[in-house]
Amino acid sequence: MNQTTPQTPGAALYETHGLVSQYMSFHYGADVFKVRNFPTACIDFLQSNLPFKSYDRCLDVGCAVGRSSFEMAKHFTHVDAVDYSSGFIDAAKALQQSGVARYTIPTEGKLTLDCRLSLESLVSSDIANRVNFQTGDACDLPENMRDYDLVFAGNLIDRLYQPKLFLDSMSHRIRDGGWLVITSPYTWLEDYTPTNHWLGGCTDKNGDPVDTITGLSRALHPKFKLHCREDIPFVIRETARKHQHTIAELTAWQRTE
Ligand SMILES: C[S@@+](CC[C@H](N)C(=O)[O-])C[C@H]1O[C@@H](n2cnc3c(N)ncnc32)[C@H](O)[C@@H]1O
Repeated sequence: MNQTTPQTPGAALYETHGLVSQYMSFHYGADVFKVRNFPTACIDFLQSNLPFKSYDRCLDVGCAVGRSSFEMAKHFTHVDAVDYSSGFIDAAKALQQSGVARYTIPTEGKLTLDCRLSLESLVSSDIANRVNFQTGDACDLPENMRDYDLVFAGNLIDRLYQPKLFLDSMSHRIRDGGWLVITSPYTWLEDYTPTNHWLGGCTDKNGDPVDTITGLSRALHPKFKLHCREDIPFVIRETARKHQHTIAELTAWQRTE
């Protein structure tokens, strides 16, 4: 691991048992308030809107418990799926290996609901086995993670300790004409990203406001060109009666040089 990797307070949160269950429910549970399942909505959008040259290799970075990785495996021959949280990766691998997962979600107070899911109802085991799950750091990926047709960073960028390190490495990892797809609600927080590394949601040295789409464009120019932007809403269930309703922005960037 790179010497710069800090243990931010936010990173530890994703290791907790409660967060694994919450993300199992978010990725594999029922739709809430008629808002579509977020990983599925994102991958369907990419499939309909991006002119892929080939469907050979893709990387799902910050994959959490793996739903977007399995959805990508329906289209791509090989999917690398990486997350910093070993709790998330263990849950994704267990689901891939056994084909079932059991988890509990809070309903009210100390009460919980037992949930069971069958992977076969979403994707065949042949397709699920195209995914290679592993723990790793988006800002310090192994050298052999390259030649991708698509890198998908779902709701990751504002959770990284140095997002620019990640963005700078993308031109080496994505094939010419390939795609970098970022979704984010741009909720920058010091618990995850020291303020001097925020890409947006802040002011520059002249005191002028910089929004995140501007920060992303500056960081990715000239190697990537913005192809499209789309709002994709999602709902994360906290309890039976409490939810987070968020609008992420999906941006798709094509590697041009
Ligand atoms: C807000 S969650 C999004 C998860 C998933 N992509 C989704 O959209 O549901 C952020 C994810 O990024 C992971 N993460 C945070 N920092 C990371 C890093 N440096 N490298 C890889 N993954 C990281 C977290 O463990 C968590 O799974």
